[in-house]
Amino acid sequence: MPLLHSRSEESSRSTSKPSPATARAPGKIILAGEHFVVLGAPAVAMAINLYSQVQVIPKQGSGVSVSADIPLRFLAGKSGSPIVPDPGELLRPLQLATEATLRHIGSNNHALQVSVECEIPVAAGLGSSASTNVAIISAVARSRGIELSKKKIFELAFVPENFLHGKPSGVDQATCIYGGMILFNRPSSVKTVRVEKEPVILVCDTGIHHATRTLVGSVVKKSQKEKKDFRNYLVMVREISDGVAEALRDGDDEELGNLMYQNHELLRKIGVSHPKLDHFVGVAKRAGALGAKLTGAGGGGCVIVLSPSKVARDRIARVLRREGGTPYKISMDTGGVESRPA
Ligand code: PMV
Repeated sequence: MPLLHSRSEESSRSTSKPSPATARAPGKIILAGEHFVVLGAPAVAMAINLYSQVQVIPKQGSGVSVSADIPLRFLAGKSGSPIVPDPGELLRPLQLATEATLRHIGSNNHALQVSVECEIPVAAGLGSSASTNVAIISAVARSRGIELSKKKIFELAFVPENFLHGKPSGVDQATCIYGGMILFNRPSSVKTVRVEKEPVILVCDTGIHHATRTLVGSVVKKSQKEKKDFRNYLVMVREISDGVAEALRDGDDEELGNLMYQNHELLRKIGVSHPKLDHFVGVAKRAGALGAKLTGAGGGGCVIVLSPSKVARDRIARVLRREGGTPYKISMDTGGVESRPA
């Protein structure tokens, strides 16, 4: 895992006495409604037990230093060749999250070292950016003795998320903040879905890089050109997302799986899938999955697979690995973002 560093020089005067703090936030998967959520449909998302950890330590002098240890090794371009992202580009949002938090809490002492350790693969649709950003926001505030409300963390997270994604819906950061399973309608309507039983889900990474901003931009453009089709899609996705939430409340895996396959078809129709994602969905189905779909922005990234049991999940994981995927046996995180003094 490469360790990246950046530093912003802001002259500052120290007033409050900062102290070390840590925070942790989960990653996420989207079970239904990605892309269409940007256009106003609801989405269902689950926080997962892959985490970002952040440590904030006061330092001598001035300026915010950010370092990040993140799994870049999973990244490959469309041709399969590895992509080496620009470290400045990766660290800028983390810096923005730190600065927005310091501004919000009125701190004029910016002498901080922010260290990020992220076990969530980047650009894979698993919420690595939202997770690191909400953990940074919580840890930075905590280092000044402040426990921010979840609502405030959500608002502040738009600063780095807008920078990264253009005009995100907010579903990623909401999931990483609240944890568990959520039904996201819009920023002012985020509801917890009480699941009857936790679905057995496997995540499988294609290893292909995707850029959320480009994919979201292409869908928004398409929706403006194909207004009538998109009106219909939005009705369908509303039914799918509401149906997914209901199936989760009822513990109805058959229904949940069918809705996942339907959602994948719609995402394919609007052009955000990838041959490898479609291949993995087909392989999983033949191997006994109840449902499978791409998750997040698509164009690469991951599929999620609903399995009838843990034994079946392990078998499907082996099959997908043979097909070149990197499977993760994830479970639901229920805590969301947590911070504490270090
Ligand atoms: O960044 P990703 O791949 O987790 O995708 C986020 C979900 C989208 O619906 C595609 C974008 C959004 O802002 O909701």
